Amino acid sequence: MNQLAQAHMSPQTTRLASDWEPASWQTRPSLQQPTYDDPLELAQALHKLGQLPPLVTSWEILALKKLLGEAAAGRRFLLQGGDCAESFDDCTSPLISNRLKVMLQMSLVLVHGLQLPVVRVGRFAGQYAKPRSADTETRGSETLPCYRGDLVNDSAFTAQARRADPQRLVRGHAHSAMTMNFVRGLIDGGFADLHHPEYWDLAWVDHSPLQNEYRAMVESIGQSLRFMETLAGNSIDSYQRIDFYTSHEALLLHYEQALTRQVPRQQGWFNLSTHFPWIGMRTAALDGAHVEYFRGIRNPIAIKLGPSVTPDQLLRLCDVLDPEREPGRLTLIHRMGIAKIDVALPALLAAIKAEGRSPLWVCDPMHGNTEAVANGYKTRRFKNIRAELETAFDVHAAAGTHLGGVHLELTGENVTECLGGARGLTEDDLALAYKSQVDPRLNYEQSLELAMLIVRKRGHGGA
Ligand code: PEP
Ligand code: CO
Repeated sequence: MNQLAQAHMSPQTTRLASDWEPASWQTRPSLQQPTYDDPLELAQALHKLGQLPPLVTSWEILALKKLLGEAAAGRRFLLQGGDCAESFDDCTSPLISNRLKVMLQMSLVLVHGLQLPVVRVGRFAGQYAKPRSADTETRGSETLPCYRGDLVNDSAFTAQARRADPQRLVRGHAHSAMTMNFVRGLIDGGFADLHHPEYWDLAWVDHSPLQNEYRAMVESIGQSLRFMETLAGNSIDSYQRIDFYTSHEALLLHYEQALTRQVPRQQGWFNLSTHFPWIGMRTAALDGAHVEYFRGIRNPIAIKLGPSVTPDQLLRLCDVLDPEREPGRLTLIHRMGIAKIDVALPALLAAIKAEGRSPLWVCDPMHGNTEAVANGYKTRRFKNIRAELETAFDVHAAAGTHLGGVHLELTGENVTECLGGARGLTEDDLALAYKSQVDPRLNYEQSLELAMLIVRKRGHGGA
């Protein structure tokens, strides 16, 4: 039986909360939600959203949960990545396919070097809502609501653009569906065929310093595949297709609620807007609306953990969100920053281990390493990203826990948003192609380099 069918038939292991319903978050304090000025317009948009078909299916969700459980046990590695925030304007063929290409190339490097299957999860097809540090933004004498992501408002600095527009909830669903549809089409159409990794090449990187290393690896994979096929006497079709899953920060709870559904032959509720939603660092309060919403859905879920989370808070979150200790249910994504990881992470690992829990541990080396440089750009230094990731492997090894994945902000475009990397981007280079409206992303080269560094740190024969 294939993996999907098995997952579909797996028994219900999560005890269903009888005191939960998709709207029960509304009784709790909900942070980071926009203020809509027309309740009727909001209600109509949510009604419309509630009628639209879902973006993913329950059997895909359960299949991913199983894979994440295997990653927690060290039998797979999670590669989760994509933009900090998607935008409606970026819902284009080249941007989507380039992002997919980067993730496919990275996963090839990881599979080859770690000798482990990789679970690929995009931060896409729904990553349209952003938590912000302030509710308003002031420029000169004018103060307006902050930009909260394309699911809420527009980034232009005018009162009309910054209005929280309920129609955007419906447009967000449509753009997610278009993205999903294209990704599914590419994957089903053989885009990810291991016989043709040249399909994944990005035109502008021919001159990259990393290309020789990457090409040599691709060549050796091609040879192994041809050897296996000669041995088997036919072509290995299973290498023509891979799985790709979606994730986003489930921030805007009205939107998530409207896509939370029951499905035939399954108990409980699924968030069918994405396979793998996560709770952001700013909305992970135990008694808050987000934790209330997440506790009732059957998806695999993740929580972002910053340096201020205490072991006690974490254990209580785990008890609420994963009372049954179900394999694959809970992923803990730490994003401490290079300055704090040594101090903040060991106590969390020790507490979880002492409780006998085995969540999937993932390192996000991006969000704790954001800084503003003299020329005003918000950036991240490649050397800090790399150092946090390498430190994370060491801290887990010392604690006797397992780091099973990485969470990155990246793009397939030739942007100049993060400093350093093989090409040594400098502060002056940032202005060349800084496109992000929110956080700085690794560009193609920096992403591939990071995948190679993970392999050097953890691969066969590595530390
Ligand atoms: C993000 O992932 O873009 C984000 C806002 O992360 P965090 O909640 O970890 O700050
Ligand atoms: Co971000």
